[in-house]
Amino acid sequence: MSSLTNKQILLGVTGGIAAYKSAELIRRLQDQGASVRVIMTPAAQEFITPLTLQALSGNPVHTTLLDPEAEAGMGHIELARWADLLLVAPASADFIARLVQGQGDDLLTTACLATPAPLCLAPAMNQGMWSNLATQDNLKCLAERGIRCFGPAEGSQACGDVGPGRMLEPDQLVELAAAQFESGILAGRSVVITAGPTREAIDPVRYISNHSSGKMGYALAEAARDAGARVTLISGPTRLPEPERCRFVAVDSAEQMYQASLDALSDCDMFIASAAVADYRPANAAEQKIKKTGQDTMVLELVKNPDIVTAVAASDNRPFTVGFAAETQDVTSYARDKLVRKKLDVVIANDVSRGDIGFNSDDNEVTIVWPENEESLSPRSKTQLARDLIVRLAQAVNSD
Ligand code: PMT
Repeated sequence: MSSLTNKQILLGVTGGIAAYKSAELIRRLQDQGASVRVIMTPAAQEFITPLTLQALSGNPVHTTLLDPEAEAGMGHIELARWADLLLVAPASADFIARLVQGQGDDLLTTACLATPAPLCLAPAMNQGMWSNLATQDNLKCLAERGIRCFGPAEGSQACGDVGPGRMLEPDQLVELAAAQFESGILAGRSVVITAGPTREAIDPVRYISNHSSGKMGYALAEAARDAGARVTLISGPTRLPEPERCRFVAVDSAEQMYQASLDALSDCDMFIASAAVADYRPANAAEQKIKKTGQDTMVLELVKNPDIVTAVAASDNRPFTVGFAAETQDVTSYARDKLVRKKLDVVIANDVSRGDIGFNSDDNEVTIVWPENEESLSPRSKTQLARDLIVRLAQAVNSD
């Protein structure tokens, strides 16, 4: 997988003959797993139609600042916030000058002003315009503001001139865009996380489950993503929104989670099993709702579910495998037993007998049980704990 996988790229297209290369650029970005939305300036539409870029990107192309329809769904602020990276390709001399002045008189300039995402430009213009001191001063000013410039290349130009000013080829731009995401302690790594409870059907309306909310696993997914990893989150049913920019696989039962986990192993450097998986399931889930009988008792036969994290740790080409241990007594010693029995690299142990931490709480307190030693992390929010855990796990994976 590429570092562009699951990344959201807002592509700005300004007026220039190189606008035709934007069509190819969209395809190449998508090939790397990125989602692409497009803003076109009026001048860009003289060179290539919005319909072409809409068909290629699979999303409506945004063209006007005050389009009431666009404002309802995805206005300039929403677009600016949506982007992980704003790439303007081609960026004309006029657009660059307007950016320097901080103008906000069209959709693209306002998105550039509003976005918290990194902004990159792929200039394309006649060699004389490129070499002009005004353009060079403008680019210097933008560089000082942290705006990155990709290219241009040198060569023969559409106007017949030869020199600098050609837009870089789409493949080169994709490579440079991908490089913007290659930072962070888990850059280039792929992390698979299980989260939440599983549901084991008794009949079509009843199931066996537990109190896991998914908060711990979702926080880990976001922390790993923010550390630069490509994240697959395999989740049982929860009430939480899907974390952005993670591959999300929804499952119900332990068997489904088992299958999804094995499927995800083809691209996995670290597997974190934070899900509360049901150890047993009803031997035969009834096809119809079970009716009350005259009996005061009812016997439910249960069979063992596959142990997901054990299977992952035993797989060929095993990833660095992290288990959790939910215990109510002798927390650390039971966790160490799981570390050895399940052949894990590390176990995160938490006490689930307490109401203020563990299941369904916003906070947690854990002991990290390594083969050689242990480290206790005092109570803190699951968001903060996840970040602290990811730092430690990343160090272990990177030195593995
Ligand atoms: O979801 P929250 O409300 O935020 O709560 C977080 C949590 C308490 C669920 C979490 O911190 C936690 O402890 N998760 C593991 C829960 C659990 O099932 O622990 P266990 O000790 O029963 O299992 C040990 C390990 O084996 C776990 O990594 C578990 O995911 C894994 N397992 C268990 C059974 C099974 N069939 N397959 C597994 O992979």
